Amino acid sequence: MADHDPWWRNAVIYQIYPRSFADSDGDGVGDIDGIRAHLQHLRGLGVDAIWMSPWYPSPMADAGYDVADFRDIDPVFGDLAAAEALITEAHAVNIRMIVDIVPNHISSAHPWFQAALASPDAPEREYFWFRAGRGDRMPTEWVGEFGGTTWTQAPDGQWYLHLFTPEQPDLNWEHPDVRAEFESILRFWFDRGVDGIRIDSAALLLKDGTLPEVIDGEPHPFHDLDGVHDVYRAWRRVADSYPDRALIGEVWMPDVSRFAKYLRPDELHAAFNFDFLGCAWEPRLMRECIDRTLAAHETIGAPATWVLSNHDVTRHVTRYGRAKTTFSFEENLDGTPVDLELGTRRARAAALLSLSLPGATYIYQGEELGLWENENIPADAFVDPMWQRRGHSRDGCRVPLPWSGDEPPFGFSTGTPWLPQPAEWKDRTVQAQSGDPSSMLELYRAAIHLRRTEEGLHRSTMAWLDAAPGVLAYTRGSAFACVLNMSGIPVPLPDHHSCLLASGPLDGTLLPPDAAVWLRLHPGK
Ligand code: GLC
Repeated sequence: MADHDPWWRNAVIYQIYPRSFADSDGDGVGDIDGIRAHLQHLRGLGVDAIWMSPWYPSPMADAGYDVADFRDIDPVFGDLAAAEALITEAHAVNIRMIVDIVPNHISSAHPWFQAALASPDAPEREYFWFRAGRGDRMPTEWVGEFGGTTWTQAPDGQWYLHLFTPEQPDLNWEHPDVRAEFESILRFWFDRGVDGIRIDSAALLLKDGTLPEVIDGEPHPFHDLDGVHDVYRAWRRVADSYPDRALIGEVWMPDVSRFAKYLRPDELHAAFNFDFLGCAWEPRLMRECIDRTLAAHETIGAPATWVLSNHDVTRHVTRYGRAKTTFSFEENLDGTPVDLELGTRRARAAALLSLSLPGATYIYQGEELGLWENENIPADAFVDPMWQRRGHSRDGCRVPLPWSGDEPPFGFSTGTPWLPQPAEWKDRTVQAQSGDPSSMLELYRAAIHLRRTEEGLHRSTMAWLDAAPGVLAYTRGSAFACVLNMSGIPVPLPDHHSCLLASGPLDGTLLPPDAAVWLRLHPGK
Protein backbone atom coordinates (compact mmCIF):
# COMPACT_ATOMS: atom_id res chain seq x y z
CA MET A 1 0.00 0.00 0.00
CA ALA A 2 1.19 3.46 -0.86
CA ASP A 3 -0.23 4.86 2.31
CA HIS A 4 2.17 5.73 5.11
CA ASP A 5 -0.31 7.67 7.19
CA PRO A 6 -0.57 6.61 10.83
CA TRP A 7 -3.05 3.74 11.16
CA TRP A 8 -5.70 5.69 13.05
CA ARG A 9 -6.21 8.19 10.24
CA ASN A 10 -7.74 5.71 7.84
CA ALA A 11 -8.64 2.64 9.89
CA VAL A 12 -11.79 0.53 9.90
CA ILE A 13 -12.48 0.10 13.60
CA TYR A 14 -14.89 -2.54 14.88
CA GLN A 15 -16.60 -1.95 18.20
CA ILE A 16 -16.99 -5.04 20.35
CA TYR A 17 -19.59 -4.90 23.06
CA PRO A 18 -18.17 -7.83 25.05
CA ARG A 19 -21.39 -8.87 26.78
CA SER A 20 -22.96 -9.57 23.41
CA PHE A 21 -20.25 -10.73 21.03
CA ALA A 22 -19.77 -14.43 21.84
CA ASP A 23 -20.11 -16.49 25.00
CA SER A 24 -17.57 -19.29 25.53
CA ASP A 25 -18.76 -20.65 28.88
CA GLY A 26 -22.53 -20.89 28.59
CA ASP A 27 -23.50 -18.25 31.18
CA GLY A 28 -25.38 -16.24 28.56
CA VAL A 29 -22.93 -13.32 28.67
CA GLY A 30 -20.21 -12.82 26.07
CA ASP A 31 -16.58 -13.05 27.15
CA ILE A 32 -12.98 -12.67 26.05
CA ASP A 33 -12.52 -16.32 25.14
CA GLY A 34 -15.61 -15.99 22.94
CA ILE A 35 -13.93 -13.11 21.13
CA ARG A 36 -10.70 -15.09 20.75
CA ALA A 37 -12.67 -17.96 19.25
CA HIS A 38 -14.22 -15.61 16.66
CA LEU A 39 -11.22 -13.49 15.70
CA GLN A 40 -11.43 -15.14 12.31
CA HIS A 41 -14.72 -13.34 11.70
CA LEU A 42 -13.00 -9.99 12.19
CA ARG A 43 -10.03 -11.03 10.15
CA GLY A 44 -12.30 -12.13 7.30
CA LEU A 45 -14.19 -8.87 7.54
CA GLY A 46 -10.87 -7.08 7.15
CA VAL A 47 -11.04 -4.61 10.04
CA ASP A 48 -7.90 -2.81 11.19
CA ALA A 49 -8.72 -2.46 14.86
CA ILE A 50 -11.09 -3.51 17.64
CA TRP A 51 -12.49 -1.04 20.14
CA MET A 52 -13.45 -2.97 23.24
CA SER A 53 -16.24 -1.51 25.35
CA PRO A 54 -15.36 -1.78 29.08
CA TRP A 55 -14.28 -5.19 30.31
CA TYR A 56 -13.10 -4.21 33.79
CA PRO A 57 -14.43 -5.41 37.16
CA SER A 58 -17.75 -3.68 37.63
CA PRO A 59 -21.02 -4.06 39.50
CA MET A 60 -22.57 -3.43 36.03
CA ALA A 61 -24.89 -0.64 37.14
CA ASP A 62 -24.25 0.81 33.68
CA ALA A 63 -23.11 -2.29 31.79
CA GLY A 64 -19.47 -1.86 32.75
CA TYR A 65 -19.27 1.94 32.37
CA ASP A 66 -19.09 1.89 36.17
CA VAL A 67 -15.53 0.67 36.65
CA ALA A 68 -14.34 -0.66 40.00
CA ASP A 69 -10.75 -1.44 38.92
CA PHE A 70 -9.17 -0.24 35.68
CA ARG A 71 -6.27 -2.69 35.92
CA ASP A 72 -8.17 -5.95 35.85
CA ILE A 73 -10.93 -7.79 33.98
CA ASP A 74 -14.39 -8.63 35.28
CA PRO A 75 -14.69 -12.39 35.93
CA VAL A 76 -17.78 -12.50 33.72
CA PHE A 77 -15.48 -11.63 30.78
CA GLY A 78 -12.39 -13.64 31.85
CA ASP A 79 -9.16 -12.44 33.41
CA LEU A 80 -6.13 -10.34 32.65
CA ALA A 81 -4.30 -13.30 31.12
CA ALA A 82 -7.18 -13.77 28.65
CA ALA A 83 -7.11 -10.07 27.80
CA GLU A 84 -3.38 -10.20 27.19
CA ALA A 85 -3.81 -13.29 25.05
CA LEU A 86 -6.48 -11.52 23.00
CA ILE A 87 -4.20 -8.53 22.46
CA THR A 88 -1.41 -10.85 21.29
CA GLU A 89 -3.69 -12.89 19.05
CA ALA A 90 -5.29 -9.82 17.51
CA HIS A 91 -1.88 -8.35 16.78
CA ALA A 92 -0.82 -11.64 15.19
CA VAL A 93 -3.56 -11.15 12.59
CA ASN A 94 -2.79 -7.42 12.18
CA ILE A 95 -5.72 -6.19 14.22
CA ARG A 96 -4.99 -3.39 16.68
CA MET A 97 -6.66 -3.05 20.05
CA ILE A 98 -8.38 -0.03 21.55
CA VAL A 99 -9.65 -0.12 25.13
CA ASP A 100 -12.35 2.05 26.65
CA ILE A 101 -11.34 4.31 29.56
CA VAL A 102 -14.03 6.04 31.59
CA PRO A 103 -12.46 9.06 33.31
CA ASN A 104 -15.51 11.12 34.26
CA HIS A 105 -16.67 8.75 36.98
CA ILE A 106 -15.88 5.44 38.60
CA SER A 107 -18.01 2.80 40.24
CA SER A 108 -19.31 3.48 43.72
CA ALA A 109 -17.73 0.09 44.54
CA HIS A 110 -14.24 1.45 43.70
CA PRO A 111 -12.01 1.53 46.82
CA TRP A 112 -11.61 5.31 46.49
CA PHE A 113 -15.31 5.90 46.75
CA GLN A 114 -15.78 3.33 49.48
CA ALA A 115 -13.11 5.14 51.53
CA ALA A 116 -14.67 8.50 50.73
CA LEU A 117 -18.07 7.31 51.88
CA ALA A 118 -16.73 5.81 55.11
CA SER A 119 -15.94 9.16 56.74
CA PRO A 120 -16.51 12.86 56.03
CA ASP A 121 -12.84 13.41 56.89
CA ALA A 122 -11.43 10.78 54.52
CA PRO A 123 -8.89 12.38 52.17
CA GLU A 124 -10.52 10.40 49.34
CA ARG A 125 -13.54 12.71 49.58
CA GLU A 126 -11.44 15.23 47.71
CA TYR A 127 -11.30 12.85 44.73
CA PHE A 128 -15.04 13.37 44.26
CA TRP A 129 -17.58 16.17 44.44
CA PHE A 130 -18.92 16.03 47.98
CA ARG A 131 -20.84 19.16 48.93
CA ALA A 132 -23.24 20.40 51.60
CA GLY A 133 -26.85 20.73 50.50
CA ARG A 134 -28.92 23.91 50.61
CA GLY A 135 -31.00 23.09 53.64
CA ASP A 136 -32.90 19.98 52.58
CA ARG A 137 -32.18 20.59 48.93
CA MET A 138 -29.36 19.16 46.90
CA PRO A 139 -26.50 21.51 45.94
CA THR A 140 -27.83 22.15 42.39
CA GLU A 141 -30.79 21.29 40.21
CA TRP A 142 -28.56 19.91 37.43
CA VAL A 143 -30.23 17.26 35.28
CA GLY A 144 -28.19 14.11 34.70
CA GLU A 145 -27.04 12.75 31.37
CA PHE A 146 -29.61 9.96 31.67
CA GLY A 147 -32.20 12.38 33.04
CA GLY A 148 -33.02 12.69 36.74
CA THR A 149 -31.11 14.37 39.54
CA THR A 150 -27.33 14.39 39.88
CA TRP A 151 -26.74 14.34 43.65
CA THR A 152 -27.11 11.59 46.22
CA GLN A 153 -26.83 12.08 49.95
CA ALA A 154 -24.19 10.20 51.92
CA PRO A 155 -25.20 8.86 55.36
CA ASP A 156 -23.46 11.83 57.05
CA GLY A 157 -25.64 14.32 55.14
CA GLN A 158 -23.21 15.54 52.48
CA TRP A 159 -24.20 15.10 48.85
CA TYR A 160 -22.02 13.67 46.06
CA LEU A 161 -22.26 14.46 42.38
CA HIS A 162 -23.02 11.88 39.69
CA LEU A 163 -23.82 13.04 36.17
CA PHE A 164 -24.99 9.50 35.39
CA THR A 165 -26.32 7.02 37.97
CA PRO A 166 -25.68 7.23 41.75
CA GLU A 167 -23.44 4.19 41.24
CA GLN A 168 -21.17 6.35 39.03
CA PRO A 169 -19.77 9.13 41.27
CA ASP A 170 -18.00 11.88 39.31
CA LEU A 171 -14.28 12.29 39.88
CA ASN A 172 -12.75 15.63 40.80
CA TRP A 173 -10.33 16.35 37.96
CA GLU A 174 -8.90 19.34 39.82
CA HIS A 175 -7.15 16.84 42.10
CA PRO A 176 -3.60 15.91 41.06
CA ASP A 177 -4.01 12.33 42.36
CA VAL A 178 -6.92 11.77 39.96
CA ARG A 179 -4.82 13.01 37.05
CA ALA A 180 -1.83 10.91 38.07
CA GLU A 181 -3.98 7.82 38.50
CA PHE A 182 -5.41 7.99 35.00
CA GLU A 183 -2.05 8.64 33.38
CA SER A 184 -0.83 5.55 35.17
CA ILE A 185 -3.87 3.59 33.90
CA LEU A 186 -3.09 4.65 30.34
CA ARG A 187 0.46 3.40 30.79
CA PHE A 188 -0.84 0.15 32.25
CA TRP A 189 -2.70 -0.61 29.02
CA PHE A 190 -0.13 0.83 26.65
CA ASP A 191 2.48 -1.36 28.37
CA ARG A 192 0.27 -4.33 27.54
CA GLY A 193 0.42 -3.46 23.87
CA VAL A 194 -2.91 -1.68 23.53
CA ASP A 195 -2.83 0.63 20.49
CA GLY A 196 -5.47 3.14 21.42
CA ILE A 197 -7.80 4.48 24.07
CA ARG A 198 -11.44 5.39 23.56
CA ILE A 199 -12.26 8.11 26.07
CA ASP A 200 -15.75 7.93 27.52
CA SER A 201 -17.76 11.14 28.04
CA ALA A 202 -14.60 13.05 27.19
CA ALA A 203 -16.04 16.57 27.45
CA LEU A 204 -17.56 16.24 30.94
CA LEU A 205 -14.53 15.89 33.21
CA LEU A 206 -14.18 19.45 34.51
CA LYS A 207 -16.89 21.18 36.53
CA ASP A 208 -17.44 24.76 37.60
CA GLY A 209 -16.73 24.51 41.34
CA THR A 210 -19.00 27.44 42.10
CA LEU A 211 -21.86 25.14 41.08
CA PRO A 212 -24.04 27.57 39.10
CA GLU A 213 -27.34 26.31 37.70
CA VAL A 214 -27.57 25.51 33.99
CA ILE A 215 -28.89 28.70 32.38
CA ASP A 216 -29.39 29.26 28.65
CA GLY A 217 -26.77 31.61 27.29
CA GLU A 218 -24.50 31.22 30.34
CA PRO A 219 -21.35 29.06 30.35
CA HIS A 220 -22.33 25.46 31.08
CA PRO A 221 -21.20 24.23 34.52
CA PHE A 222 -20.03 20.80 33.34
CA HIS A 223 -20.05 20.50 29.55
CA ASP A 224 -16.86 21.26 27.68
CA LEU A 225 -15.06 23.46 30.23
CA ASP A 226 -11.80 24.86 28.87
CA GLY A 227 -9.71 23.17 31.55
CA VAL A 228 -10.44 19.74 30.08
CA HIS A 229 -7.92 20.40 27.33
CA ASP A 230 -5.05 20.37 29.85
CA VAL A 231 -6.06 16.83 30.76
CA TYR A 232 -5.84 15.69 27.16
CA ARG A 233 -2.55 17.50 26.54
CA ALA A 234 -1.11 15.49 29.40
CA TRP A 235 -2.64 12.28 28.02
CA ARG A 236 -1.17 13.05 24.62
CA ARG A 237 2.27 13.29 26.16
CA VAL A 238 1.74 9.83 27.64
CA ALA A 239 0.50 8.42 24.31
CA ASP A 240 3.39 10.02 22.43
CA SER A 241 5.89 8.33 24.70
CA TYR A 242 4.87 5.06 22.97
CA PRO A 243 4.98 4.41 19.22
CA ASP A 244 1.76 4.66 17.16
CA ARG A 245 -0.76 5.02 19.97
CA ALA A 246 -4.05 6.87 19.49
CA LEU A 247 -6.54 8.69 21.74
CA ILE A 248 -10.13 8.76 20.49
CA GLY A 249 -12.68 10.90 22.25
CA GLU A 250 -16.38 10.46 22.80
CA VAL A 251 -17.21 14.12 22.30
CA TRP A 252 -20.90 14.92 21.73
CA MET A 253 -20.74 18.56 20.71
CA PRO A 254 -23.03 20.43 18.34
CA ASP A 255 -20.58 23.35 18.04
CA VAL A 256 -17.97 22.16 15.53
CA SER A 257 -15.42 24.80 16.44
CA ARG A 258 -15.54 23.67 20.08
CA PHE A 259 -15.42 20.04 18.92
CA ALA A 260 -12.33 20.71 16.81
CA LYS A 261 -10.43 22.02 19.84
CA TYR A 262 -10.23 18.46 21.17
CA LEU A 263 -8.37 17.45 18.02
CA ARG A 264 -5.61 20.02 18.09
CA PRO A 265 -2.23 18.46 17.33
CA ASP A 266 -1.25 18.16 20.99
CA GLU A 267 -4.58 16.68 22.16
CA LEU A 268 -6.70 13.75 20.90
CA HIS A 269 -6.00 12.00 17.62
CA ALA A 270 -9.63 11.54 16.67
CA ALA A 271 -13.19 11.85 17.97
CA PHE A 272 -16.48 10.22 17.07
CA ASN A 273 -18.63 11.98 14.52
CA PHE A 274 -22.01 12.11 16.23
CA ASP A 275 -23.20 14.73 13.78
CA PHE A 276 -23.07 12.06 11.04
CA LEU A 277 -24.56 9.40 13.31
CA GLY A 278 -27.58 11.59 14.04
CA CYS A 279 -28.01 12.93 10.51
CA ALA A 280 -31.29 12.36 8.69
CA TRP A 281 -31.47 10.30 5.50
CA GLU A 282 -31.87 13.43 3.45
CA PRO A 283 -29.49 14.48 0.67
CA ARG A 284 -29.04 18.14 1.51
CA LEU A 285 -28.56 17.51 5.22
CA MET A 286 -26.22 14.59 4.58
CA ARG A 287 -24.09 16.59 2.19
CA GLU A 288 -23.96 19.52 4.59
CA CYS A 289 -22.96 17.18 7.40
CA ILE A 290 -20.13 15.73 5.33
CA ASP A 291 -18.91 19.20 4.33
CA ARG A 292 -19.14 20.46 7.89
CA THR A 293 -17.21 17.45 9.15
CA LEU A 294 -14.44 17.73 6.61
CA ALA A 295 -14.08 21.48 7.04
CA ALA A 296 -13.87 21.21 10.84
CA HIS A 297 -11.18 18.53 10.68
CA GLU A 298 -9.19 20.16 7.92
CA THR A 299 -8.49 23.30 9.94
CA ILE A 300 -6.54 21.25 12.48
CA GLY A 301 -5.27 18.43 10.24
CA ALA A 302 -7.20 15.75 12.13
CA PRO A 303 -8.86 12.77 10.41
CA ALA A 304 -12.64 12.71 10.21
CA THR A 305 -14.51 9.70 11.55
CA TRP A 306 -17.70 8.13 10.20
CA VAL A 307 -20.00 6.39 12.64
CA LEU A 308 -23.51 5.06 11.97
CA SER A 309 -24.25 3.13 15.17
CA ASN A 310 -22.87 2.26 18.58
CA HIS A 311 -24.00 0.67 21.85
CA ASP A 312 -25.89 3.82 22.91
CA VAL A 313 -28.08 4.55 19.91
CA THR A 314 -30.85 2.96 17.87
CA ARG A 315 -29.41 0.60 15.25
CA HIS A 316 -29.41 2.37 11.92
CA VAL A 317 -31.36 -0.31 10.02
CA THR A 318 -34.24 0.66 12.30
CA ARG A 319 -33.49 4.38 12.29
CA TYR A 320 -33.37 4.58 8.48
CA GLY A 321 -36.60 2.57 8.25
CA ARG A 322 -38.63 5.16 10.15
CA ALA A 323 -40.41 8.24 8.85
CA LYS A 324 -38.04 10.27 11.02
CA THR A 325 -34.49 9.12 10.33
CA THR A 326 -32.51 11.28 12.75
CA PHE A 327 -31.19 10.09 16.09
CA SER A 328 -31.21 12.13 19.27
CA PHE A 329 -31.56 11.25 22.93
CA GLU A 330 -34.03 14.10 23.30
CA GLU A 331 -36.57 12.57 20.96
CA ASN A 332 -37.81 9.10 21.78
CA LEU A 333 -39.01 7.35 18.60
CA ASP A 334 -39.37 3.92 20.20
CA GLY A 335 -42.30 2.02 18.83
CA THR A 336 -42.93 4.33 15.85
CA PRO A 337 -43.47 2.34 12.62
CA VAL A 338 -40.38 0.84 10.99
CA ASP A 339 -39.98 -0.46 7.43
CA LEU A 340 -37.06 -2.85 7.93
CA GLU A 341 -36.68 -3.53 4.22
CA LEU A 342 -36.27 0.16 3.50
CA GLY A 343 -33.98 0.56 6.50
CA THR A 344 -31.84 -2.34 5.32
CA ARG A 345 -31.59 -0.96 1.80
CA ARG A 346 -30.47 2.39 3.16
CA ALA A 347 -28.08 0.79 5.64
CA ARG A 348 -26.41 -1.01 2.72
CA ALA A 349 -26.03 2.26 0.86
CA ALA A 350 -24.80 3.98 4.02
CA ALA A 351 -22.10 1.33 4.39
CA LEU A 352 -20.69 2.30 0.99
CA LEU A 353 -20.92 5.95 1.99
CA SER A 354 -19.22 5.63 5.37
CA LEU A 355 -16.52 3.31 4.03
CA SER A 356 -15.56 5.62 1.17
CA LEU A 357 -15.41 9.01 2.88
CA PRO A 358 -11.94 10.21 3.87
CA GLY A 359 -10.98 9.28 7.43
CA ALA A 360 -11.60 6.38 9.80
CA THR A 361 -14.83 4.36 9.79
CA TYR A 362 -16.37 2.70 12.83
CA ILE A 363 -18.50 -0.43 12.67
CA TYR A 364 -20.62 -1.41 15.64
CA GLN A 365 -20.81 -5.18 16.07
CA GLY A 366 -23.77 -6.64 14.20
CA GLU A 367 -24.01 -3.74 11.79
CA GLU A 368 -22.13 -5.94 9.31
CA LEU A 369 -24.97 -8.46 9.72
CA GLY A 370 -27.68 -5.88 9.12
CA LEU A 371 -29.12 -6.33 12.62
CA TRP A 372 -31.98 -4.12 13.61
CA GLU A 373 -32.95 -2.76 17.02
CA ASN A 374 -34.78 -5.38 19.05
CA GLU A 375 -37.86 -3.38 20.03
CA ASN A 376 -39.61 -6.40 21.48
CA ILE A 377 -37.64 -6.85 24.67
CA PRO A 378 -40.09 -7.04 27.59
CA ALA A 379 -39.60 -4.06 29.91
CA ASP A 380 -38.86 -6.33 32.85
CA ALA A 381 -35.84 -7.67 30.97
CA PHE A 382 -34.29 -4.21 30.51
CA VAL A 383 -31.07 -3.68 32.43
CA ASP A 384 -30.08 -0.30 31.03
CA PRO A 385 -30.27 2.39 33.75
CA MET A 386 -31.40 4.89 31.12
CA TRP A 387 -34.74 3.05 30.97
CA GLN A 388 -35.75 4.11 34.50
CA ARG A 389 -34.67 7.70 33.96
CA ARG A 390 -35.67 8.50 30.40
CA GLY A 391 -38.16 5.83 29.41
CA HIS A 392 -35.82 4.73 26.62
CA SER A 393 -33.63 1.65 26.90
CA ARG A 394 -30.38 1.12 24.99
CA ASP A 395 -30.72 -2.63 25.42
CA GLY A 396 -32.37 -3.01 22.02
CA CYS A 397 -29.06 -2.33 20.25
CA ARG A 398 -27.07 -4.49 22.68
CA VAL A 399 -28.64 -7.86 21.88
CA PRO A 400 -26.22 -10.81 21.51
CA LEU A 401 -24.97 -11.53 17.98
CA PRO A 402 -26.43 -14.36 15.90
CA TRP A 403 -23.63 -16.60 14.64
CA SER A 404 -25.26 -19.77 13.34
CA GLY A 405 -28.26 -22.07 13.39
CA ASP A 406 -31.98 -21.49 12.92
CA GLU A 407 -33.08 -20.36 16.33
CA PRO A 408 -31.89 -18.45 19.38
CA PRO A 409 -29.29 -18.47 20.84
CA PHE A 410 -27.92 -18.71 17.28
CA GLY A 411 -24.53 -20.06 18.36
CA PHE A 412 -23.93 -17.08 20.66
CA SER A 413 -24.01 -19.25 23.77
CA THR A 414 -24.95 -22.71 24.95
CA GLY A 415 -27.04 -21.03 27.65
CA THR A 416 -29.73 -18.36 27.60
CA PRO A 417 -28.52 -15.02 26.20
CA TRP A 418 -28.72 -12.15 28.69
CA LEU A 419 -31.08 -10.35 26.31
CA PRO A 420 -33.49 -12.09 23.93
CA GLN A 421 -32.63 -12.33 20.22
CA PRO A 422 -35.41 -11.97 17.62
CA ALA A 423 -36.29 -15.32 16.00
CA GLU A 424 -36.24 -13.47 12.64
CA TRP A 425 -32.45 -13.18 12.91
CA LYS A 426 -32.16 -16.70 11.52
CA ASP A 427 -31.25 -15.31 8.12
CA ARG A 428 -28.95 -12.67 9.63
CA THR A 429 -26.47 -15.09 11.19
CA VAL A 430 -22.85 -15.07 10.09
CA GLN A 431 -23.34 -18.60 8.84
CA ALA A 432 -26.46 -17.83 6.79
CA GLN A 433 -24.90 -14.77 5.18
CA SER A 434 -21.44 -16.16 4.44
CA GLY A 435 -21.10 -16.91 0.75
CA ASP A 436 -24.39 -15.22 -0.17
CA PRO A 437 -23.31 -12.37 -2.45
CA SER A 438 -26.51 -10.44 -1.75
CA SER A 439 -26.01 -10.45 2.03
CA MET A 440 -25.02 -7.49 4.20
CA LEU A 441 -22.03 -9.43 5.50
CA GLU A 442 -20.63 -10.04 2.01
CA LEU A 443 -21.23 -6.39 1.15
CA TYR A 444 -19.15 -5.30 4.15
CA ARG A 445 -16.45 -7.87 3.38
CA ALA A 446 -16.21 -6.73 -0.24
CA ALA A 447 -16.27 -3.04 0.64
CA ILE A 448 -13.57 -3.32 3.30
CA HIS A 449 -11.45 -5.40 0.96
CA LEU A 450 -11.79 -2.81 -1.82
CA ARG A 451 -11.00 -0.06 0.64
CA ARG A 452 -7.63 -1.71 1.12
CA THR A 453 -6.92 -2.27 -2.54
CA GLU A 454 -8.32 0.94 -4.10
CA GLU A 455 -5.64 3.53 -3.93
CA GLY A 456 -8.12 6.40 -4.16
CA LEU A 457 -9.56 5.31 -0.82
CA HIS A 458 -6.23 5.74 0.94
CA ARG A 459 -5.87 9.42 0.16
CA SER A 460 -7.59 12.00 2.27
CA THR A 461 -9.15 14.02 -0.51
CA MET A 462 -12.65 13.93 -1.91
CA ALA A 463 -14.37 16.12 -4.45
CA TRP A 464 -18.07 16.43 -5.17
CA LEU A 465 -19.22 15.59 -8.71
CA ASP A 466 -22.11 17.38 -10.36
CA ALA A 467 -25.13 15.18 -9.89
CA ALA A 468 -28.92 15.19 -10.23
CA PRO A 469 -30.89 16.68 -7.32
CA GLY A 470 -30.95 14.29 -4.37
CA VAL A 471 -27.84 12.42 -5.51
CA LEU A 472 -24.52 12.57 -3.65
CA ALA A 473 -21.58 11.78 -5.94
CA TYR A 474 -17.92 12.25 -5.17
CA THR A 475 -14.51 11.14 -6.27
CA ARG A 476 -11.59 9.94 -4.20
CA GLY A 477 -8.51 10.46 -6.31
CA SER A 478 -8.89 10.47 -10.10
CA ALA A 479 -10.08 6.90 -10.59
CA PHE A 480 -12.67 6.21 -7.87
CA ALA A 481 -16.18 7.54 -7.38
CA CYS A 482 -19.08 6.83 -5.04
CA VAL A 483 -22.65 7.66 -6.03
CA LEU A 484 -25.50 7.57 -3.51
CA ASN A 485 -29.05 8.03 -4.72
CA MET A 486 -31.26 9.68 -2.08
CA SER A 487 -33.59 11.23 -4.67
CA GLY A 488 -36.46 8.76 -4.58
CA ILE A 489 -36.27 7.97 -8.33
CA PRO A 490 -33.81 5.92 -10.42
CA VAL A 491 -30.94 8.00 -11.81
CA PRO A 492 -28.30 7.46 -14.52
CA LEU A 493 -24.74 6.79 -13.41
CA PRO A 494 -21.93 9.14 -14.38
CA ASP A 495 -19.50 7.98 -17.11
CA HIS A 496 -17.36 5.23 -15.74
CA HIS A 497 -15.18 2.30 -16.68
CA SER A 498 -16.58 -0.34 -14.33
CA CYS A 499 -18.78 -0.85 -11.33
CA LEU A 500 -16.70 -2.11 -8.40
CA LEU A 501 -19.51 -2.68 -5.93
CA ALA A 502 -23.20 -1.86 -5.62
CA SER A 503 -25.34 -1.84 -2.50
CA GLY A 504 -28.17 -3.50 -4.46
CA PRO A 505 -29.14 -4.52 -7.98
CA LEU A 506 -29.07 -1.78 -10.60
CA ASP A 507 -32.21 -0.98 -12.57
CA GLY A 508 -30.77 -1.59 -16.05
CA THR A 509 -28.20 1.18 -16.28
CA LEU A 510 -29.94 3.22 -13.60
CA LEU A 511 -29.14 3.48 -9.90
CA PRO A 512 -32.34 2.84 -7.90
CA PRO A 513 -33.37 5.01 -4.94
CA ASP A 514 -31.66 4.35 -1.60
CA ALA A 515 -28.76 2.61 -3.31
CA ALA A 516 -25.07 3.41 -3.72
CA VAL A 517 -22.30 2.27 -6.05
CA TRP A 518 -18.54 2.40 -6.12
CA LEU A 519 -17.23 3.10 -9.61
CA ARG A 520 -13.88 2.84 -11.33
CA LEU A 521 -13.73 5.90 -13.55
CA HIS A 522 -10.96 4.72 -15.88
CA PRO A 523 -9.04 1.49 -16.37
CA GLY A 524 -5.81 2.52 -14.58
CA LYS A 525 -5.65 2.61 -10.80
C1 GLC B 1 -20.86 6.97 27.43
C2 GLC B 1 -21.06 5.51 27.08
C3 GLC B 1 -22.37 5.06 27.64
C4 GLC B 1 -22.33 5.22 29.14
C5 GLC B 1 -21.97 6.65 29.53
C6 GLC B 1 -21.57 6.74 30.97
O1 GLC B 1 -21.78 7.78 26.80
O2 GLC B 1 -20.95 5.32 25.69
O3 GLC B 1 -22.67 3.74 27.29
O4 GLC B 1 -23.58 4.89 29.68
O5 GLC B 1 -20.87 7.15 28.81
O6 GLC B 1 -20.31 6.16 31.17
